Amino acid sequence: MESNQQPGSLTVIGGQWGDEGKGKIVDLLSARVAAAIRYNGGNNAGHTVKFADRHFALHFIPSGIIHPQVRCYMGSWMVIDPKELLGEIDSLQDQGIDVMRRLFLSERATIILPTHRALDGAREAARGAGSIGTTKRGIGPAYQDRAQRRALTATLLTDPKRFGERAVQVMTAHNRELELLYDAEPVGLDTARDELEAAAARLAPLVTEIGPKILEHLTHQEPVLFEGAQGVMLDLFQGTYPFVTSSSCLPGAAAISCGIPVQTLGPTVGVMKAYVTRVGGGPFPTELTNAAGDHLRKRGNEFGTTTGRPRRCGWFDAAAARFAARVGGLDGIALTKLDVLDDLDEIQVAVGYRHPDGTIITEPPSDLEKLATLDPVYETLPGWRSNTAGTLEIESLPAQARAYISFLERQVGVPVVLVSTGPRRKETFALGDSNLASTLRRLAGGLDQPIQKR
Ligand code: IMP
Repeated sequence: MESNQQPGSLTVIGGQWGDEGKGKIVDLLSARVAAAIRYNGGNNAGHTVKFADRHFALHFIPSGIIHPQVRCYMGSWMVIDPKELLGEIDSLQDQGIDVMRRLFLSERATIILPTHRALDGAREAARGAGSIGTTKRGIGPAYQDRAQRRALTATLLTDPKRFGERAVQVMTAHNRELELLYDAEPVGLDTARDELEAAAARLAPLVTEIGPKILEHLTHQEPVLFEGAQGVMLDLFQGTYPFVTSSSCLPGAAAISCGIPVQTLGPTVGVMKAYVTRVGGGPFPTELTNAAGDHLRKRGNEFGTTTGRPRRCGWFDAAAARFAARVGGLDGIALTKLDVLDDLDEIQVAVGYRHPDGTIITEPPSDLEKLATLDPVYETLPGWRSNTAGTLEIESLPAQARAYISFLERQVGVPVVLVSTGPRRKETFALGDSNLASTLRRLAGGLDQPIQKR
């Protein structure tokens, strides 16, 4: 597959339910790219980049922005809250990062209005026990308006007055819904309008048609990194619907979001934890609600970066990963947080699900009620009970850890090309001698270890 793919471009997506450690992988790979592109979601995503002694909290802007040579793009499939984006820009600029000349926002991106946030909260409250557990950033309501064809797009930011007028029209309709359907407080329109107009005036210089600019990088064979937010299992169409986000987390969405031919997309790396976590509601077949789950949460520091919520934790689900590999067309897996399993005597992996009648299936069904009746079929592997944190070569991993990685590869049917053994950038190594592994080594720059053969 790799031979006829554009050598310059690589896509990194989440292979589970988000929070797989994409932030660290993308940050690592951004060191030598010319362009970094976020193509879906908004400030429901979030990660902290640690650089020297500084911390940067990023929600909209690709972490490539930390590297001075990288141009950063935000695609049309993103939802943008103008005030929040400005806050992120200001905080980066305050820390000496030059943002305004290197950041570009698709004129076709959807705007999140203050009333979208209010509606997100009100709808979640109304769902009661069936709540999705959204991040309450207004993501779903903004995408809903897009599908309903009444959303405002970023092109309006270049005309703040017109933007303010249109925003008031839409927010008036939202306020009616807040009051009548949810008995909730309406949003103050005058303040909202003033803030939106002020934000628009400052964001206007970023707004552009991004497709031709991205194609120019690709034409010049410059490395380009597309980063998907959330993960395959949270994809609006392929995930565990309705417990999903409202955008596509799959690699093909990068082409749609940027307005570039799908043929220009290169290989895809799916980031997967060595176990699984999920925040919010929805099915999670391998969830551990016992001491083992608590151990993973504590050792893996599994608390949300955007909302601070404790994450649900469980064993690696190879059936879900197999599905993610198929629908995401994964060329390689970046396996993260292997060291979190260091203290365990035994490790379980779900290799399929068993129906009450005894039949076994190898991928999750789309019907969540059916999924709830299935039991994971586990295989138990020995733990390694030794410290792997910071290990930088496959030979230095304990035999059981190497066997664990090989087992996952066989089960998922995709090679592991990158292994992360700690939170720091350097605590990562590329695996194997495939073209993809070489590309990763080249992009990471800092990963100058010799090729790790098996
Ligand atoms: P929304 O994207 O805020 O509408 O939330 C929908 C679902 O996706 C909820 O279960 C969220 O917890 C989940 N979600 C959204 N963004 C992320 C993320 O970046 N990481 C993990 N879960 C997320």
